[in-house]
Amino acid sequence: MNGSRPILIRNVDVLTASEKFRADILVVGEKIHTIGVDIPTENCEIIDGSGLTAMPGGVDVHTHFDLPMFGTVSSDDHYTGHKAAAFGGTTTVIDFVPLDKPTLEESIAAWREKADPKAAIDFSFHMNISRWNETIAREIPRLVDWGIPSIKVFTAYNNRLRISDGEIFSAMRIAKEYGILTMLHAENGDVIETLVQEALSQGKTTPEWHAHTRPSWGAVEATLRGIALAAQSGAPLYIVHMNAGGEVDQLAYGREKGVPVMGETCPQYLFFTVEHLRRPDGAKWVCSPPMRTPEDNERLWQGLAQGILQTVGTDHCPFFYDGTRPILYEGKPIAIPGKELGKDDFTKIPNGLPGVGDRLPILWTYGVRTGKISENQFVALNCTNPAKIFGLYPQKGALLPGSDADIVLWDLNKKLTYGVAVAQHRTDYNLYEGWELVGYPVKVFLRGQLIVDGDQWLGKAGQGRFLKRTPGTVL
Ligand code: URP
Ligand code: ZN
Ligand code: ZN
Repeated sequence: MNGSRPILIRNVDVLTASEKFRADILVVGEKIHTIGVDIPTENCEIIDGSGLTAMPGGVDVHTHFDLPMFGTVSSDDHYTGHKAAAFGGTTTVIDFVPLDKPTLEESIAAWREKADPKAAIDFSFHMNISRWNETIAREIPRLVDWGIPSIKVFTAYNNRLRISDGEIFSAMRIAKEYGILTMLHAENGDVIETLVQEALSQGKTTPEWHAHTRPSWGAVEATLRGIALAAQSGAPLYIVHMNAGGEVDQLAYGREKGVPVMGETCPQYLFFTVEHLRRPDGAKWVCSPPMRTPEDNERLWQGLAQGILQTVGTDHCPFFYDGTRPILYEGKPIAIPGKELGKDDFTKIPNGLPGVGDRLPILWTYGVRTGKISENQFVALNCTNPAKIFGLYPQKGALLPGSDADIVLWDLNKKLTYGVAVAQHRTDYNLYEGWELVGYPVKVFLRGQLIVDGDQWLGKAGQGRFLKRTPGTVL
């Protein structure tokens, strides 16, 4: 299947953010040409879609591939992470560019150099604004020309990524003027610093202290601070990795007041709690912000179901649990230092989790099948809304004539036991080990090319394209 002949997917259930209906999908070249009934079949390669459901390829707007951290690097790069994403039904990712060169332009060029030859699905970038000066301020508007109309700012990670509230306010004003969306990592950096020093001085070094030193009130307060800055600057704001029920309450308040604020949560905050950090292998769950409580899980689900939150991203930033023991990846042994770096001190555990391939299958079984969100909400939250907010719609996130033929065929009756042996991440563990799934992607098309067929990988490094985005929509 090389895209030279039109592809006709016949008699498939088409699931979108607002509808479900039976139809044929005609793909010509890289695009969806027609969706209808009884489309003539001459010249077409026919795929029998009976019993299958077609959804748009997932859009994950929060990944960290090949990210240097704590003397190591996140273990999925722009190839292995893209491949894992594809197996889980995601065909577009947006990765964060660290500001680790003198200018934005040089930082982006360096990230493109790493990503372009490896990319296996389509991708774009957000720009971290983790330093503030006149040069950076002057450079922000140029992001629009480069097709990167989104920045991320931080109220945590003192002396590393955080800039001051005044600087965030200034960045947001510039962003607003040029149609750039500001994204916020909302925690209280000062409180975290104080609590971390206190915990270490008392010999409290186990993974659960990662959570205790990053209290949820800090996230709630910083979320409201961000919303207030959005209200005062008039700039739209997207709060990433929302993890605390109180943050959902703040977002609801801001939205009720008409402030242009939106929110994302991630699967880990829907399913896990601080209890997981207390396990002997608790380091597997160390990420920032941390896991909270069952009440927080519940309020986040409500936020998704009630439309207070607009998207689910993953914050995919995997590390090996034991980076001294190689795994086999595509037949070759590989080990990358990981969570063991912090076995005696939680502050040295690299922050982050695998997730880019897990998001859709896990949320289908444990979100849709459990009745927490509807089928249409599943598509809206994971595909359509992220594409709209980040300026990719209707090229991505949609099954419409003219859209890229990023089509995922799901077998909604397929049963499997999930875990590290199924997920394709380049790491040695999976958070959902042993979870029973019903419903899984069986064929994945990227711009009309079949890149995943059952458990077969047909994709390749370099086929993914950089997506120059335009300013998106506030939902
Ligand atoms: O622990 C995490 N989430 N690592 C990635 C960096 C971030 O703040 O998103
Ligand atoms: Zn963050
Ligand atoms: Zn992140």
